[in-house]
Amino acid sequence: MSDGAAANAAVDALRSAGFEPWETDSVGGRAAIQRLSSVMTTARTTDVTVAVRFRWQPTGVGRLLPRALRPTAADYGALDVPAPLWPVYLLTRPLRLLAERTGRREPAPASLGPFLSTPAELLGPLLEFASLTSEDVLVDVGSGDGRLPIEAARSTGCRAKGIEHDPGLVSQAALAAETAGVTDKVTFVVGDAARADLSAATVVFIFLPANVTARLIEPIAASLQPGSRIIAHEQHALSGAPTPSVSLAIGAGQGMTVAHRWDI
Ligand SMILES: C[S@@+](CC[C@H](N)C(=O)[O-])C[C@H]1O[C@@H](n2cnc3c(N)ncnc32)[C@H](O)[C@@H]1O
Repeated sequence: MSDGAAANAAVDALRSAGFEPWETDSVGGRAAIQRLSSVMTTARTTDVTVAVRFRWQPTGVGRLLPRALRPTAADYGALDVPAPLWPVYLLTRPLRLLAERTGRREPAPASLGPFLSTPAELLGPLLEFASLTSEDVLVDVGSGDGRLPIEAARSTGCRAKGIEHDPGLVSQAALAAETAGVTDKVTFVVGDAARADLSAATVVFIFLPANVTARLIEPIAASLQPGSRIIAHEQHALSGAPTPSVSLAIGAGQGMTVAHRWDI
């Protein structure tokens, strides 16, 4: 079965079990399933939300390689080639590791989580929850397809930046900013969200797995100026994170989440 057909089959199976997949059958969601061997994604009925783990096994030559030599998310991030050329990735891992060992290449950023988009209907309510104004500088750490910084600049005129480790997503976001006519306000950079300088931000937006968000709050808060806010949203409990200043359940259209705000 081809990658695309298998992703469709997974989506169909979720639907027939009564779950409406959330963003799974978007281009980004499908690419995430195909590129990472195992990815969490979320599906739901009207009143139950579940996390689903897709196990993705390589086929063909990739299946014969020991696990340690199979391409990882870092390899896919280091080189971006069209799907028909994906066998090239089988060579990427040994070459990348060699280059890193010999100091010719910076180690790729560790992945903080897979690409899943904030549902479009939630963008407005989340920005309102952040009390965003035209004076703010918003930074989305792990910006995916760039929808949040773009909507922030479009709706309030604020400056916004997205930091994303996947160069393919950064190109996609830059194109979307051009289409939305906000390139004078929004920038997207390839970088490691865990090591980014956030001192110029007045609002930091985080949509990452709950355990990752929990460990990022304190170091990010320490780097921000008084009056800044950190906004995170997740459907899982944020155990281990400092208590938020405000938490709010948000439902809009087909989207629902729990938003948290830390006022610095
Ligand atoms: C759940 S998505 C959120 C996307 C976007 N912020 C949104 O709300 O629609 C998390 C994003 O973080 C990115 N990411 C993961 N690890 C990263 C890292 N170390 N540095 C930068 N981006 C990273 C992923 O590629 C993915 O696009």
